[in-house]
Amino acid sequence: MAATVHSFIKLLLDFYYYLLNKVFVFPSLEKLWVIDLRTFRPYSISINHNAVQATEFRKISPLGITASPQDHIAKGLTLLDPGFRNTAVGESRITHIDGNRGLLQYRQYSISYLVTHHDYEDVVHLLVWGHLPTLDEKLNFRSRVAKQMVPDQSIIRVIQAFSPDAPAYLIVAAGLTAWAASDPDSVPVYRGYSIYEKDSNAVDEGIYRSLAAFATVVAIMACHQQGKPFTPHADPTLSTIENMLIMMGRPHDRQAASALNKLWILFADHEITNSTAAFLNATSCLSDPISACVASVASGNGPLHGGAIDLAYKRFKQMRNKEGVRKHMADVKAKKTRLMGVGHRVYRTIDPRIPHLHSIMADLETNVSQNPLLDVVLEIDRTVAEDPYFTSRKLSINADLYSSFAYAALGFDPRIFTPLAMTARCAGALAHWRESMNQPPCLWRPRQVFTGEVAS
Ligand code: CMC
Repeated sequence: MAATVHSFIKLLLDFYYYLLNKVFVFPSLEKLWVIDLRTFRPYSISINHNAVQATEFRKISPLGITASPQDHIAKGLTLLDPGFRNTAVGESRITHIDGNRGLLQYRQYSISYLVTHHDYEDVVHLLVWGHLPTLDEKLNFRSRVAKQMVPDQSIIRVIQAFSPDAPAYLIVAAGLTAWAASDPDSVPVYRGYSIYEKDSNAVDEGIYRSLAAFATVVAIMACHQQGKPFTPHADPTLSTIENMLIMMGRPHDRQAASALNKLWILFADHEITNSTAAFLNATSCLSDPISACVASVASGNGPLHGGAIDLAYKRFKQMRNKEGVRKHMADVKAKKTRLMGVGHRVYRTIDPRIPHLHSIMADLETNVSQNPLLDVVLEIDRTVAEDPYFTSRKLSINADLYSSFAYAALGFDPRIFTPLAMTARCAGALAHWRESMNQPPCLWRPRQVFTGEVAS
């Protein structure tokens, strides 16, 4: 009986919506009409860029109906979205991804254009300051970062206190923490007031410092892992990548510098993804950017995000050959484990970074083809493209599947793959930070829906 009444009401409402559409709603009217069936009250909510303001739903408040106190009826309707599957946390002009068409652009430039015609420094400048740099701007940027690439001894000591085999991201997080602590005047609460809010000079200084800190900490760690002495190197005429490679004991490694320039362009930003969100969550409280980098490292090392690069490579080693891939696939399809380097929250077709990764690998052909794990990764790629488990879920390989190969072909230790990717991504997080610091402060503080017992 209840179902029949419900169907009848739904039919009436469908007719009502139809009339509303015909009579009142014109295509130019960007409005959402919502009827709360608990009260039959209609609400109108504005649509802008195909998005609605979540706070608008607060006006949907069915006062008078019986509800549990934890439902906060008086506060209006809450949007429940675990994992931010369909919630935008802000507006941005930095990066655009079209997951259905497999497109990625930074500002107004496609990733293909940038990777073909520009280097990583140009792209960092583009992301952060909104335009490709002139020669003067590029040289200025380069020397401002290099000026900061001089670590305090305490940072080196902190990194060297770890076992070289300790998880690399934790060493990076500790090194960055030591960096922030060695420069306490960059920490707002320590200094006694807000430093970065609406102060673009302070923000820019924070950006140079964070880029320098990340690359230097990773270089100190790389030396420590390989048992090499660390010597700082901050030549203001060289790029961050070149200075970092020299500090890692790889002077004049043109092949690595050229490949890293391309690789890091591909990873420099990816919208407000998980680790960038962690960074912005910290800076929404007006924290300093290096502390926020620590938050992004904590988030980015997880297996579902940046840690996938590391874990994918470990799994390739465990699989060893095509037979190993077949066995692993059986476990994946039985949902015993996930296939690392496959799937993406946004891409429902090819990840646009993959063709460029292939081209980087082609440039490193000799080293890549010598890697016995190549057969493993190619078999994974083939299976994912053909097997209905993946095709029916629109799961494709993602950039993390191949980036480990590029890093391995460049002779990097697998322990450092994810920290290198994080160093590249730091630029994107900083660009979003600069964008947010030009807006009024807005603390990120998600709501929750409480489903437990309320104390009487
Ligand atoms: N292996 C096996 N099954 C998968 C995988 C995978 N890698 N990814 C998703 N699925 C399945 C999942 O089990 C679910 O199946 P069902 O519909 O039967 O329940 C379906 O596909 C949808 O999965 P989801 O968890 O709702 O999708 P998501 O958007 O939350 O997950 C993801 C995105 C990246 C966390 C996930 O694809 C994954 O775990 N991938 C492996 C880790 C990885 O490579 N991460 C790097 C991502 S790229 C870097 C970045 O930008 O973050």
